[in-house]
Amino acid sequence: MSKIEVGRNSKATENNYIYGSPKYTAPEALKNRFQTMTMCPFEAHVYSFAMICSKILSKKDPFHDVCDIKRILERIEKDERPKLPSNCDDLIKLIKECWRLNPLHRPKFASICERLDILKCKFLVGMNVPNAPYFGVSKNNYYQNEEFLQTPKKFPMVDLCNEEIFGRIQCLSQIKQQCANKVKALCLVGMGGIGKTTIAKTILADVIDMYDASCFVECIENGVDCFTTSCNILEQFKVKLKPNDIKEAHRMLKSFLIENKTILVFENVKNQSQIGDVVLMEDIFASNGSTLVATTRDSKVIEHCGEEVCIINIEELDEETSMKLFITHFCGQENLPNELVEVGEKIVRACNGLPLSLKVMGAFLRENKRLRCWKRAL
Ligand SMILES: Nc1ncnc2c1ncn2[C@@H]1O[C@H](COP(=O)(O)OP(=O)(O)OP(=O)(O)O)[C@@H](O)[C@H]1O
Ligand SMILES: [Mg+2]
Repeated sequence: MSKIEVGRNSKATENNYIYGSPKYTAPEALKNRFQTMTMCPFEAHVYSFAMICSKILSKKDPFHDVCDIKRILERIEKDERPKLPSNCDDLIKLIKECWRLNPLHRPKFASICERLDILKCKFLVGMNVPNAPYFGVSKNNYYQNEEFLQTPKKFPMVDLCNEEIFGRIQCLSQIKQQCANKVKALCLVGMGGIGKTTIAKTILADVIDMYDASCFVECIENGVDCFTTSCNILEQFKVKLKPNDIKEAHRMLKSFLIENKTILVFENVKNQSQIGDVVLMEDIFASNGSTLVATTRDSKVIEHCGEEVCIINIEELDEETSMKLFITHFCGQENLPNELVEVGEKIVRACNGLPLSLKVMGAFLRENKRLRCWKRAL
């Protein structure tokens, strides 16, 4: 990825008009140059995303045989695009939609993420994807694929939070206390990027010793059926027997919950059935000391669970913590250079305590340490 040199076009610093690498830049941005790039339209990013995917899949820069922006534009307008290995129809279809000439005909990132989630899920669990993607030239090099074929229905392991977590001391100790008090259900609610997943993973790592067993389930809309998810949970509980249908899965989960104090984390819940269809709520609540943790952007999704649920609103980070997070991702040091302090504070304030924005802005501005770029980023 580092070889793509996005954001490092030497001409950008000289004449202030093209940012990023032209081969990865959307045609409308190449045409309108400075103006479009300062507007930062998402459609242009979608195009660049497709070009980066093509680089990863084919290992070649798009339009690698031309350097001139005019020639690149001509080719794009003639509907020429990089060649993609034909090994995953769904992924190729998505990439082709993303690099359409008309920005309005490109999918939105929300829908791209959802489709990638479904693809990832199908791919990782070894469901019936006839041509799962591989990277590079030869399928034989892609050992992972073979591995997944041999172990169908194996879900990705949970990557427990290794990143440093900023702030949240009170919130984390409140949740830990709730777990110690045998709370039945906790619901972490907050807007996208506020840190629900980060907190859920940190908590899981922190309290895991209080429980006999744990599971971590990512809820994917229209992605995986409830039987497959129930099987996945049983697998995470290390239950060797495989159920034949959803009823049997419910029975097995029920008896597991009776015998074991368990913590079940359901991530990104969009409706209650994503939990209730997989493992019956009453079985969780009836068990002795088990805890359900759900993360969601919308507290309404589990409001029918009644008083058993303790709702925890995840708030924005305070200004001091925000600044620390921003600086860490900007330069890894404690302070900003003097000339950037004032504008840095404004940028941090504009991020409204949202960790995702702070991380992205910090990392983005790492490549642009000039005061002018920072002012423009505001
Ligand atoms: N307290 C924190 N300290 C450092 N980084 C954080 C913190 N909270 C969140 N982040 C980072 O911010 C990004 C977004 O966080 P996270 O994925 O947890 O948000 P979310 O609320 O789950 O979002 P979504 O609703 O989209 O799932 C992640 O990269 C995470 O590492
Ligand atoms: Mg999340």
